[in-house]
Amino acid sequence: MRLADRVVAVTGAAGGMGEGVARVLLEEGAQVALWDLSAERTGEVAARVDGSGLRTLALAVDVTDEDAVRAAVQATVERFGALDGLVNNAGTITMNPAWDASAAEWRRQLEVNVTGSFVCAQAVGRHLKGSDGGRIVNVSSNAGKAGYPNMAAYNASKAAVIGLTRSLAMEWAADGINVNAVCPGGVDTPMLTQVAEWLSPRLGTPADELLQGMGASGLGGRRIRPEEVGRVIAFLLSDDAVIIRGQSISVDGGDTPY
Ligand SMILES: NC(=O)c1ccc[n+]([C@@H]2O[C@H](COP(=O)([O-])OP(=O)(O)OC[C@H]3O[C@@H](n4cnc5c(N)ncnc54)[C@H](O)[C@@H]3O)[C@@H](O)[C@H]2O)c1
Repeated sequence: MRLADRVVAVTGAAGGMGEGVARVLLEEGAQVALWDLSAERTGEVAARVDGSGLRTLALAVDVTDEDAVRAAVQATVERFGALDGLVNNAGTITMNPAWDASAAEWRRQLEVNVTGSFVCAQAVGRHLKGSDGGRIVNVSSNAGKAGYPNMAAYNASKAAVIGLTRSLAMEWAADGINVNAVCPGGVDTPMLTQVAEWLSPRLGTPADELLQGMGASGLGGRRIRPEEVGRVIAFLLSDDAVIIRGQSISVDGGDTPY
């Protein structure tokens, strides 16, 4: 129960990782605001992870919309009487060779993955300022540290999240806000399936087979479970991690050992 009585907002909470993260944060005693594009989908997640319905709040929030994010902060504080932390987990990917990728695809990935993370950090950070216990965890990726073909914009966006993490950690330390990031490898979620399905016709290999190969070699080839990333995020949100600041920690079974 490392997060007893803490209130944490999780963006992209209707996705594979978001649900797993929410589940772990609830296990650790937190109350969790589930923010994602659709109220219906966040409501379904709330019903699955919180039978009582008392410890979650499901909201429709586009992380790129500053007004919507400000309103979500307010609604969360009104519901729980506090907001102590943020997991910037919302993300999007569009695979394409760099030769063919459009500027619109590039902008969309940068907009959601980087600008969205900044907008949410700023809105929640303004609330946390001076509380001496505020926590923000950004979800970058091993693609923020290593390069992969056909995902230039995604790679660039996730590297930018690492830069954002370093900057906010330095700037907001004096305000008691601790900022770190995680860089997951292949996690079993719809996003990884999307990558396999894009590759499948191009490589002439069934998507299922490709997915099998997207596990972490350091874990004997198995894929990472969302809850495993969630436990590292829970640690970073907890007081145990107060001496870790501005770090982007690989949670990929050792495939990106830096
Ligand atoms: N799955 C992996 O292997 C993997 C690896 C490393 C990092 N990540 C990162 O983990 C995070 C979660 O991804 P996932 O694997 O659960 O994918 P997912 O597609 O299952 O979930 C992503 C969620 O983000 C939401 N989202 C997208 N745009 C949004 C917006 N503008 N506002 C609010 N919500 C928005 C989507 O609706 C979706 O529910 C992402 O940031 C992703 O880049 C995933």
